[in-house]
Amino acid sequence: MRLFLLFSFSALMLHEAYGFTDEPDRKALLDFKSQVSEENQDALSSWNNSSPLCNWKGVTCGLKNKRVTRLNLGGCQLRGMISPSIGNISFLISLNLSDNSIGGTIPYEVGNLFRLKYLNISFNFLEGEIPDNLFNCSRLLDLDLCHNHLGGGVPSELESLEKLETLDFGANNLRGKLPASLGNLTSLARVSFSKNNLEGRIPDDLARLTQLVHLGLGENKFSGGFPPSIYNFSSLEYLNMFGNVFSGSLKPDFGNLLPKLRLLEMGTNSFTGPIPTTLSNISNLQEFSIEQNKMTGSISSSFGKLKNLKTLRLHNNSLGSYSSGDLEFLKALSNCTQLQTLLVNRNRLGGVLPTSITNLSTNLWKLDLGTNFIFGTIPYGIGNLVSLQKLVLRENLLTGPLPSSIGKLSRLVFLNLTSNRMSGEIPSSIGNITWRLCKFKRLCTLSVAHNKLYGHLPQVLGNWLMGAKILDFSNNDFSGSIPGYFGNFSLLEYLNLSINNFEGEVPTEGKFRNATVVLVFGNQYLCGGIKELKLNQCIVQAQPSHSSSSKKVTIELSIGIALLLMVLIMAYISLCWFRKIKNNQLSSNSTYSSTREVVHEKISYAYLRNATDGFSSSNLIGSGSFGTVFKAFLPTENKVVAVKVLNLQRRGAMKSFLTECESLKDIRHRNLVKLLTACSSTDLQGNDFRALIYELMPNGSLDMWLHPEEVEEIRRPSRTLTLFERLNIAVDVISVLEYLHVYCHEPIAHCDLKPSNVLLDKDLTGHVSDFGIARLLMKLDQESFFNHLSSAGVRGTIGYAPPEYGMGGQPSIYGVLLLEMFTGKRPTNDLFGGNVTLNSYIKLALPERVLDIADNSILNSGLRAGFPLDECLIMVFKVGLRCCEESPKNRLATSEARKELILIRERFFIGRR
Ligand SMILES: *[C@@H]1O[C@H](CO)[C@@H](O)[C@H](O)[C@H]1NC(C)=O
Ligand SMILES: *[C@@H]1O[C@H](CO)[C@@H](O)[C@H](O)[C@H]1NC(C)=O
Ligand SMILES: *[C@@H]1O[C@H](CO)[C@@H](O)[C@H](O)[C@H]1NC(C)=O
Ligand SMILES: *[C@@H]1O[C@H](CO)[C@@H](O)[C@H](O)[C@H]1NC(C)=O
Ligand SMILES: *[C@@H]1O[C@H](CO)[C@@H](O)[C@H](O)[C@H]1NC(C)=O
Ligand SMILES: *[C@@H]1O[C@H](CO)[C@@H](O)[C@H](O)[C@H]1NC(C)=O
Ligand SMILES: *[C@@H]1O[C@H](CO)[C@@H](O)[C@H](O)[C@H]1NC(C)=O
Repeated sequence: MRLFLLFSFSALMLHEAYGFTDEPDRKALLDFKSQVSEENQDALSSWNNSSPLCNWKGVTCGLKNKRVTRLNLGGCQLRGMISPSIGNISFLISLNLSDNSIGGTIPYEVGNLFRLKYLNISFNFLEGEIPDNLFNCSRLLDLDLCHNHLGGGVPSELESLEKLETLDFGANNLRGKLPASLGNLTSLARVSFSKNNLEGRIPDDLARLTQLVHLGLGENKFSGGFPPSIYNFSSLEYLNMFGNVFSGSLKPDFGNLLPKLRLLEMGTNSFTGPIPTTLSNISNLQEFSIEQNKMTGSISSSFGKLKNLKTLRLHNNSLGSYSSGDLEFLKALSNCTQLQTLLVNRNRLGGVLPTSITNLSTNLWKLDLGTNFIFGTIPYGIGNLVSLQKLVLRENLLTGPLPSSIGKLSRLVFLNLTSNRMSGEIPSSIGNITWRLCKFKRLCTLSVAHNKLYGHLPQVLGNWLMGAKILDFSNNDFSGSIPGYFGNFSLLEYLNLSINNFEGEVPTEGKFRNATVVLVFGNQYLCGGIKELKLNQCIVQAQPSHSSSSKKVTIELSIGIALLLMVLIMAYISLCWFRKIKNNQLSSNSTYSSTREVVHEKISYAYLRNATDGFSSSNLIGSGSFGTVFKAFLPTENKVVAVKVLNLQRRGAMKSFLTECESLKDIRHRNLVKLLTACSSTDLQGNDFRALIYELMPNGSLDMWLHPEEVEEIRRPSRTLTLFERLNIAVDVISVLEYLHVYCHEPIAHCDLKPSNVLLDKDLTGHVSDFGIARLLMKLDQESFFNHLSSAGVRGTIGYAPPEYGMGGQPSIYGVLLLEMFTGKRPTNDLFGGNVTLNSYIKLALPERVLDIADNSILNSGLRAGFPLDECLIMVFKVGLRCCEESPKNRLATSEARKELILIRERFFIGRR
């Protein structure tokens, strides 16, 4: 108590010594202090009555009146709230409370500080709205409230801050639109509203802000075209529009209107159209980012004029034309010697990877050309890019080896070459990458999966990859033993060695103890490892000293078993073959005469000629594969049917035609076009005449529905197929394949499955036609068959049929059909050629750009509101792609594909059928 009195007394004495003029400031500041707690106890310790006010930490006084004019408590680790008494420090010109942990609201009383020019409360936890009263501080030059939790709208009263030069409301929770009155603040040079929930168009009135140097609009929900007002800001150096919903295209003279830009961030919007070439006139441009938009056209070589360019982000657009020339700009970019980041992945860039990439800036540290259509090999000179840390070339069409010069990229920590066609061995020079790391481990990632790389994993790889987190070698032809060093990589989270030819014992130490980290399946000759890998035990040696010979024994044994199996299989096949020949001989000898009775007697040339009005063109339905199809009315049956007249080159030798037709008739399925009967006869000139009579499918072929623009007007369907109808037809077709595949005794290839062979009945149910006809013709008239093949180009060339044509290849033929059904694009479309196929095109678009590749008429056909169209299409395309997998072991089986499609149908159209 006595101490307190003494203390108060001395304080009083001090007051007298320094005079009372500062009394209101002192009271207010002590009150301010009482409302905040200091994480750092010393921050405001000098704020005590035993030291003069003007010496308090962060306080600056006016020279004459000794009143507080500046208060700078930035970064003092203060918590708590701002006391309303702050409004009593009436001579305050500058208040900086930034970078603390102050919560609560901005006190209304701040509005009393009419002398205030600088107010910075950024990087705190302020809540509530921006108080109206603040706008009384009409002398404010700089208002910075960024990085708080302020809500409400941007007040239109803001316009009364007439002198404002800097306004930063970034990173708050502001909602609503920007007020047009903002355009009155004509002195503004720096404005940011980034990272809020603001929406709507940018008001045209902003065009008056001609002094603007810095404009941040990023990460809001602003919409509309590129704001015309911005084209007025000829002094603008920094423009951030990233992450909004801006759309529309950019003015061709963009670069001439905004010639001072240094940083231009427009990524993640919906901008369309070409990148204006006038950008190259912005001589100081350091960063141009327009990733994640819908930009089209080419990447201009004129970027090469931008000597100061450091960052070019053009990824996730639709740039390029899948053709050579698309990568010309890379050559020009070698003039941009400051370039550090170049991202053009996920576009439509085609052509050969030019060797000129090796002349890119030696400052380049990030290069991503992934998910494009780039061919060729990685040039040896890649080793020139000595600063490279991240190199991504994944999902292209690159061939050839990984050049040994990769060893020169001493800073490389991320390399993804997945899904190319690269071959060769991993160069041992890769071990050189470590020379700078010395002792510390760097986190690195290597993925070379889905290529054709082979050879052993070099021992030295361990040096580079020591700090590896993700390693993916899967789906290659790597061989040799699995290096034990992986087990010691302490940061390793994922090591995929699956689907290769690794052999021998799988280590069990370190990371190899964890089956979720190390994947080894699909390597035929691996043994051992931990139990969870479910591998065979390695053969135990009698003399454990010879561990290498144990591997040999394993291999020899395996080879022995394989040989034995092969012999057995071949024996079985020859047995079956022999039996079949015998059966065939029997059947053709004994059944020929009886078939005539089975096949409809009345079907003769004359009868069909009558039924088709003399094969008149008015009854012509189409000229499909192997023949011409007519509509015919069969009076005796009172039925309209389709008659397919076969084009035959070879006379005679067709004795068993009707027999064969009979056997085709036995194969019945609700989704096969029903073969009613056949006609084997001679025409009026005495030529052989063969025809097949089918059930008529009134809705024509799927082909007509998918490509109506190619159909003559009278036969063109009146509408397009809906998503649901397409799914149904897809299921119809695959049901047939499953039936033919699984349930028929003799699997019969329908090697000519394409939309023109899928016919639609009156309910738009799909029926596969021409089934078996290829086989029939091959047996009976090989000449016609091969002519047909070469003319229609069934075999492989046009993308429907895989190389193993007709040999269990149905899923992939079907896969292509499925992809065509949902993209509306034929595999023969001009878009595709060389190494770009319908499926690689789809693969690259999934999942983000699924709506870009889907058939437009699906997008426009009455789906209920909120239908997850993209989700559904992604699933369908994935089935299609998995059916098309090149390697049979990855390919989806017919029955699986059917199941998946039915599941998709159930999931998205529950209860509709
Ligand atoms: C601030 O000023 C108001 C009005 O003059 C007064 O009532 C209040 O007590 C003052 N607060 C402090 C902490 O000095
Ligand atoms: C008051 O502030 C002065 C100056 O910083 C300091 O030396 C002194 O220890 C402080 N007194 C108290 C009681 O905190
Ligand atoms: C402020 O801007 C609004 C809308 O642009 C305008 O109507 C008003 O006249 C302006 N006020 C002043 C003082 O210029
Ligand atoms: C690159 O620089 C060279 C030499 O300065 C010049 O001739 C060439 O035109 C430049 N290319 C581009 C695209 O600017
Ligand atoms: C890798 O290092 C070895 C030994 O220092 C050297 O002979 C070889 O040329 C280097 N390879 C590359 C590609 O730098
Ligand atoms: C490498 O690329 C593949 C194929 O696009 C991708 O699936 C994988 O996630 C990538 N790896 C890393 C570590 O980014
Ligand atoms: C195995 O690895 C996974 C993934 O890194 C990890 O979550 C898990 O804890 C590990 N299990 C054991 C037994 O170490």
